[in-house]
Amino acid sequence: MASLINLLATRAREVKASAIREICKLIAKPQIRSMAGGWPDPATFPVEELKEIVTQVLVDKPHLALQYTTSEGLPELREFLAGWLKEKDQVDCTPDQIVITHGSAQAMELTAKIFIERGDIAFVGLPTYFGGSGACQTFGAELVGVEVDQDGMNVEELELKVIQAQKEGKRPKLIYVIPDFQNPAGVTMIKERRNRLVAIAERYGLVIAEDNPYRDLRYSSQPLPPVMTCSPLGRVVYLRSFSKIFCPGFRLAFAVGDSSVIRRMVIARQFEDCCTAAFGQYVLYEFCKRGLLDIQIEKNCSHYKLKRDSLLRALDEHFPKELKWNRPDGGFFVFVHLPQEYDGEELLREAVKKDVAFVAGAPFFVDGSGCNTFRLSFAQAEISVIEEAVADLGKLLKERILK
Ligand SMILES: Cc1ncc(COP(=O)(O)O)c(C=O)c1O
Repeated sequence: MASLINLLATRAREVKASAIREICKLIAKPQIRSMAGGWPDPATFPVEELKEIVTQVLVDKPHLALQYTTSEGLPELREFLAGWLKEKDQVDCTPDQIVITHGSAQAMELTAKIFIERGDIAFVGLPTYFGGSGACQTFGAELVGVEVDQDGMNVEELELKVIQAQKEGKRPKLIYVIPDFQNPAGVTMIKERRNRLVAIAERYGLVIAEDNPYRDLRYSSQPLPPVMTCSPLGRVVYLRSFSKIFCPGFRLAFAVGDSSVIRRMVIARQFEDCCTAAFGQYVLYEFCKRGLLDIQIEKNCSHYKLKRDSLLRALDEHFPKELKWNRPDGGFFVFVHLPQEYDGEELLREAVKKDVAFVAGAPFFVDGSGCNTFRLSFAQAEISVIEEAVADLGKLLKERILK
């Protein structure tokens, strides 16, 4: 075995395992009360509707649904999505500007694959979801972190870092942002920053990867325009996912961009998975055609809003006042800042002994900072479990950490 390890390509050796996957091992005890994973609540999955639709697809179109399909994705599904995006997000696009992918993880991987050359600079949030940074790193990008505050990525700092990179003779190439209910920080980028972000990408010739899987899971406040619509010159690849609003098991998502960029992504995927599995696409298309997608989104919002509110109430009641956390308008996450001298990972080890789990924040910071942070997800745990777990965590924080 060791001899094969010696043969590994640099990109396989350099990329680290996701910290979340590692944590899953640590917390795989049945009694654990977990606020760690960003997985959706299975209680939201539209099982009854799917039983009927899956049967219908198998009866009506087995020759298509069980067959290979086009690398772009089903034309009728892309047609539907173009109309849906126009109606919901005022995104103007044609079906040939859409590629259906296996999760937005694949859409991000394809984005990095077609744009990133070894040594290019990719700018990511501090903190950021590691799917985006990991994809860029796989293709040899150097990652540069940019502060994320309560208003999203700090675009003034971003511009200074782009200029700095240029001065050093480096190649700034891509900005990875999650503008709505960011993972892990839960914050939303304000409108002025969205415009400024696009202006920076245009001025310095960068591409923006706008990753937006939580956009439709909004529980308060009004939606802001996607970064994509702030960029008439097509600087943005817009990544959307069905994982959180439908179910992740079908691994369905899509990317929207300039048709020449989407074409490159389609060609790139022909040598990895050829096409997104047809079966799931037909099922999703039928789900959408029956008008169930928007109903499903509404149901999900009511479901997760209750959970968000419960978590925030529990935090207000049980957490020491020295800690700071955000109040997200949507998505799955609350991000907690401990006083500077405390360590999120140490707290996690203590918390696991009390059967409470979350994700320590450090792995979300590409510059090695953020040790005093941690992420709580309200998506999966039952409300009573969230309340109990936060009460116990609050007690632990008061007794052990902030004594
Ligand atoms: C910001 C962000 N992007 C992408 C993904 C992956 O989504 P998908 O299931 O569509 O691959 C996640 C999942 O947690 C996420 O939080």
